[in-house]
Amino acid sequence: MESRIKTIGVLTSGGDAPGMNAAVRAVTRAAIANGMRVKAIFRGYKGLIEGEVQEFTTQDVSGIIQRGGTILKSARCEEFKTPEGRRQAYETLVREQIDALIVIGGDGTFTGARSLSQEYNVTVIGVPATIDNDLWGTDSTIGYDTALNTIMDCVDKLRDTGTSHERVFVVEVMGRDAGFLTLNAAIAGGVEAAIIPERATIAEQIDEALGQGRRKHKNSAIVLVQEHAVEGGAKAVAEMIEQEHPDYGTRVTILGHLQRGGSPTAYDRILASRFGCHAILALLDDQRSIMVGMQNDEIVYVPMAQAIKQKKDIQADRWNALHVLSI
Ligand code: F6P
Repeated sequence: MESRIKTIGVLTSGGDAPGMNAAVRAVTRAAIANGMRVKAIFRGYKGLIEGEVQEFTTQDVSGIIQRGGTILKSARCEEFKTPEGRRQAYETLVREQIDALIVIGGDGTFTGARSLSQEYNVTVIGVPATIDNDLWGTDSTIGYDTALNTIMDCVDKLRDTGTSHERVFVVEVMGRDAGFLTLNAAIAGGVEAAIIPERATIAEQIDEALGQGRRKHKNSAIVLVQEHAVEGGAKAVAEMIEQEHPDYGTRVTILGHLQRGGSPTAYDRILASRFGCHAILALLDDQRSIMVGMQNDEIVYVPMAQAIKQKKDIQADRWNALHVLSI
């Protein structure tokens, strides 16, 4: 049976994530392979409102699988949060004869897509891409693995100088409201402690951090702090440590947007390629308002509402592993 979807629109939105380009490539090529036309929308929902649209061929996505960032550009668009903004976005879809919209992004991107779908009956498919890995229904999101590796490399480097000078390093990690990046980078970097929003009180966590590390038998320690786990972030934690232990030579490193850049890892490129292909298969399967996800290495379709609203578990065994291994 011929698909009712003749033309798709594709955009990237919210914080960029390494592997977004690989997803754009996969969506474009899989759509064209299935007889669909592809319209690329630039600058996320802002571009959708303003009609920044260009038809893509397979050549337009050549040579981008290895590139970080997004060739489609990204934006956080306040206007799209308003009914008037979404009306203008819908008008662009009608004018461009776009039958379905593939949105590549995170939580905020899917929230916007869902509103558009509810108000104007637009078919939307979400491809999860955020370094935060905070979407329910998928084991991983595009960009998370690359960011994790970037943080791990930074921690390894800080360890060199930290042990040489016998200092405590307090390192701030991104993640919005979630501690996945912080906790897993902590395990991979072999650090003394992680402070994440999902676990215990801050005082307890700091105490444990230093109890596990420096105070026992090490002369240096690394503490990772999730950006919003403590008001004031890593700087505030460092001040608390300094007050108690002025002799520790505490230093602060805020990794910031470094964590969003770089060439995607093989894992993220493959994940993005699979998600992109399955976003098109989902359309052929008449799916709408779903996110493609990956669970136990199998691709699944997750209702967008659930992906946004349900809270993904941080997994107790990882937290326990960090504590057992950091002594
Ligand atoms: O969602 C990705 C993310 O990098 C978060 O980890 C972080 O809190 C936020 O975006 C930063 O956003 P911006 O680049 O708009 O300051």
